[in-house]
Amino acid sequence: MKAPQRYTVTAALPYANGPVHIGHLAGCYLPADTYVRFLRLIGKDVLFICGSDEHGVPITLKARDLGISPQDVVDTYHKLMGDAFVDMGISFDVYSRTSSAIHHETAQEFFLNLYNTGEFTEQVTEQFFDEQEQTFLADRYIIGTCPNCGNDNAYGDQCEKCGKSLSPSDLINPRSKLSGNAPVKKSTKHWFLPLDKYQDEWINDWMLTQKDKWRSNVYGQCKSWLDQGLQPRAITRDLDWGVKVPLQGEEGKVLYVWFDAPIGYISASREWSEKTGKDWKPYWQDEHSQLVHFIGKDNIVFHCIIFPAILKAHGDYILPDQVPANEFLNLEGEKISTSRNWAVWLHEYLEDFPNRRDELRYVLTSIAPETKDSDFSWKDYQTRVNSELADILGNFVNRVMVLTHKYFEGKVPTSEFNPSAEVEDAATRIFERVPDMILGYEFRAGLIETIGLARAGNKYLADAQPWKLNLEADREEVEKIIAYSLDIVSRLSVALSPYLPDTSARLRKMLNLPAAFVWNDLLVSHLPQGHAIGLPEILFKKIEDDQIDAQLLKLEASKAAQPVQVKAHAPVKSSISYDDFMKMDIRVGTILEAVKVPKADKLLQLLVDTGVDKRTVVSGIAEHFKPEDIIGQQVSLLLNLEPRKIKGIESQGMILMAEDADGKLKFVQPGEVVNPGAEIR
Ligand code: 2FM
Ligand code: ZN
Repeated sequence: MKAPQRYTVTAALPYANGPVHIGHLAGCYLPADTYVRFLRLIGKDVLFICGSDEHGVPITLKARDLGISPQDVVDTYHKLMGDAFVDMGISFDVYSRTSSAIHHETAQEFFLNLYNTGEFTEQVTEQFFDEQEQTFLADRYIIGTCPNCGNDNAYGDQCEKCGKSLSPSDLINPRSKLSGNAPVKKSTKHWFLPLDKYQDEWINDWMLTQKDKWRSNVYGQCKSWLDQGLQPRAITRDLDWGVKVPLQGEEGKVLYVWFDAPIGYISASREWSEKTGKDWKPYWQDEHSQLVHFIGKDNIVFHCIIFPAILKAHGDYILPDQVPANEFLNLEGEKISTSRNWAVWLHEYLEDFPNRRDELRYVLTSIAPETKDSDFSWKDYQTRVNSELADILGNFVNRVMVLTHKYFEGKVPTSEFNPSAEVEDAATRIFERVPDMILGYEFRAGLIETIGLARAGNKYLADAQPWKLNLEADREEVEKIIAYSLDIVSRLSVALSPYLPDTSARLRKMLNLPAAFVWNDLLVSHLPQGHAIGLPEILFKKIEDDQIDAQLLKLEASKAAQPVQVKAHAPVKSSISYDDFMKMDIRVGTILEAVKVPKADKLLQLLVDTGVDKRTVVSGIAEHFKPEDIIGQQVSLLLNLEPRKIKGIESQGMILMAEDADGKLKFVQPGEVVNPGAEIR
């Protein structure tokens, strides 16, 4: 396959409102990284771009729910995601963010360029407006009854219960998420990208030229959009979080997130340029550069139609050559969900499985959802790591290394081989077929070929059984077997590097070969007779059952909890004197009885052994605990709070609670059981 010299490779900018999970990794970042590593290996000039997508309504909603600013939300997740990508070894040249000044500037320049050349149409439309809050409402800020299934909490863009796509005016009894009031319609001006006009002018024709080039899932989705007829698309919104519309007198309007986010790729390139002193423009403006967008399937229309339309309207930019969009990865048979916390979070995997990045890369590429949705399960992870990586690749390398040290003092014994047809066939297949597979975005297939060499090498060594030969009588034979096996390991260090970069680096080190190499090194032996190799290392430790059980337990348990807590802590209250503090009599008590207070959803009536007496306390914890679960629990109790009547019951004290970031209440308990009445000071 004839490949161009310069590549601009983007990986979808993840929303900065949750951590990265294995679905993101398998869908977009891992194939992109494998592709880029291969391009570098064959000497291409590549710019690999990513960053955080920090605008959009879900981020403002999350900030509102947590009582913090949108900037706090994106700061937290930008760091978490950026660190996780680095820790995973995803080799971006730049990881930027759309809240940066350079991005705001770039996106505004784009808007102004298109505005000044008269590309946009202006339309005044009626939008929902919250009179109390004096603000227009994005679709997600409007809730109401779904006309399809009757769900009372459907959003203005979708009902999450039945999945139906909605527009705010479809909702029955719409209300504002901000004030709870019914919104009114108010007119507002916005700018539109005339996609309908572009469709006739060039998109239809251009799309046809992609027909046999793009994956069928990608082309198919685009075609169905085009068949329905494109509509003008508003590229501004009435919001205060986002890139401001750079026009005088248009305060309160920002660019639509899907207008600004893909321009983020260009801003990131400019940021890279400022840092490195290299020119970003050829990567975006030279027609000989190849632009490739790695994305998940939910991003297809934005990268295949809307962003190209923006680039073309500007006029100075190349259009994407390829948009390899993956399908989705499920987890243990269920859809991965950030809101339900059903996910394997990348930063947690890296903590739980230190130094096992390649194991995850291997498994996720083996099951990559390239043509249809696929499923990650922990048991399958364990099986693949143990029986493929450890038993085949790891076992082969370890045997060769150990035998070389045992028989030949760690030196390559000869430059003569006794080649095996099977091994040579596997190596030839890699050299001839894997480049086309990787450049054709068939990473799974390429990995299967690549691991085929380890398989063939392992079989070769197991069949040759040099340990059964007589080192005196059959010395030459043993030398040839070991030298050839070492050569296979050397070839593996090259072939594996796009897929398993850590393993490749370790093989290079073990063989005492230079860390830098090129794809064509696959064909050349770099292990002359007498070359001293390094020490053997175990490449892959087996994954034990208890590690898998722990992950399965964690998944079940984490379903209820939030992935990352970014709730701001309440500010410190004003100072009190020591005497004030000493006025409080706080003791450990044991709950003896617990019952629901009739007609009060939130209240439990407790009988507490305080050590000094047994007393009744009414506590607002009924939504957090079942009465039967808390009998016998020790709690902290403010004993000398003035008694007060709650729902007719006299409450004689107050149970102290700790409120978690997700709003869950926990008892404040002594580390171990103590006698009721123990003072807390
Ligand atoms: O789906 C997403 O996660 C989006 N934040 C992807 C944006 S890609 C690009 F256009 F920035
Ligand atoms: Zn519904």
